Amino acid sequence: MTNPRESEPFLQVSDLSVTFRVTGSGFRRVPLHAVSDVSFTLQPGETLGLVGESGSGKSTTGRAVLRLIEPTHGSVRLRGEELTEMSRKELRRKRQAMQMVFQDPYSSLDPSMTIADSLAEAIKQHEDLGRTDVRERASELLDEVGLGRHHLDRYPYEFSGGQRQRIAIARALAVRPELIVCDEAVSALDVSTQNQIIKLLERLQDQEGVGYLFIAHDLAVVRHISDRVAVMYLGRVVEQGPVEQIFERPMHPYTNVLLSAHPIANPARQRGRERTVLRGELPDPTAPPSGCAFRTRCPHEFEPCATELPDLVEMPNGSFVRCHLHDQGPVLGGSTVRVLPPESRGDRRAATSDETVSTDAE
Ligand SMILES: Nc1ncnc2c1ncn2[C@@H]1O[C@H](COP(=O)(O)OP(=O)(O)OP(=O)(O)O)[C@@H](O)[C@H]1O
Ligand SMILES: [Mg+2]
Repeated sequence: MTNPRESEPFLQVSDLSVTFRVTGSGFRRVPLHAVSDVSFTLQPGETLGLVGESGSGKSTTGRAVLRLIEPTHGSVRLRGEELTEMSRKELRRKRQAMQMVFQDPYSSLDPSMTIADSLAEAIKQHEDLGRTDVRERASELLDEVGLGRHHLDRYPYEFSGGQRQRIAIARALAVRPELIVCDEAVSALDVSTQNQIIKLLERLQDQEGVGYLFIAHDLAVVRHISDRVAVMYLGRVVEQGPVEQIFERPMHPYTNVLLSAHPIANPARQRGRERTVLRGELPDPTAPPSGCAFRTRCPHEFEPCATELPDLVEMPNGSFVRCHLHDQGPVLGGSTVRVLPPESRGDRRAATSDETVSTDAE
């Protein structure tokens, strides 16, 4: 008989929301919806890239998946087990399957502990081994991440940034995780070190089938490492889909703007693609715009955008998009929106061909 859980994705995040209470004007406590109704799945050995401007809710999503921040609402299922309802004790056990690697490995490495002690602490959480075996396992982990075992008795401050990141990854691997949330894990490294760490992550994925939730500002890195990408804007996923779809044929105006600075592989399409500059700042998350939160910066705003939050709808190309252009307006992806029809311009200027969001201008 087949186990019904086998058909479930290894990680299933549904309607995940995190609301902080922050101090607003007049010292009043106001809600800040950092993450709203985020849903995604991850299969073993798969990488989901998470992109979006600073403050869009990427880190909060990563932390809420691991319950390092308590979700306000929603569900996180790991191999069919609901994490949001687990007791602290159960969660501690489960957490071994889920690790996080941060931008600054100092935050995960105790500066007063040698590498051997730091790795031993992690190994002992997972395996009941004697002293000699623990040291041997720590040596193997250092080998795995490409650092010699002669480094075992050194302290974190004696390493370069790239080496520290390798140690942080070794520590995450010590508990044989199934999921690693990489939050800007390679952002602070120079390009050649970045490449080495990415190769290391890919090799570990091939060998161990680790799934990555990969958060990064660097779109080239995200494109390289991801199988699928989710684009966040002000706490919501506005577009999600296979990496090539997102980069070659973005459907949401925000994705298009975010990626317009990123060169695409097809030179003809690259030449024809128009650069669109994102206007203005990310709105105040404690007072987000009504309807579609992106509308205040969108060159295509039309009548329903101010009043109705668009649903995340599935497109024929396999992407999911949250934009009224796709549920009630002229189609953007697949064919170029040149000028919106007059009745759909609302009280804003029409998009001229200069500022058109063009995704397919071959
Ligand atoms: N502990 C907290 N208390 C209150 N607000 C918070 C807290 N952590 C994050 N926020 C707010 O939640 C929103 C999302 O923050 P988050 O750190 O998830 O963004 P991000 O996408 O990771 O940004 P960056 O790219 O700069 O790391 C921001 O408006 C931020 O100010
Ligand atoms: Mg962040």
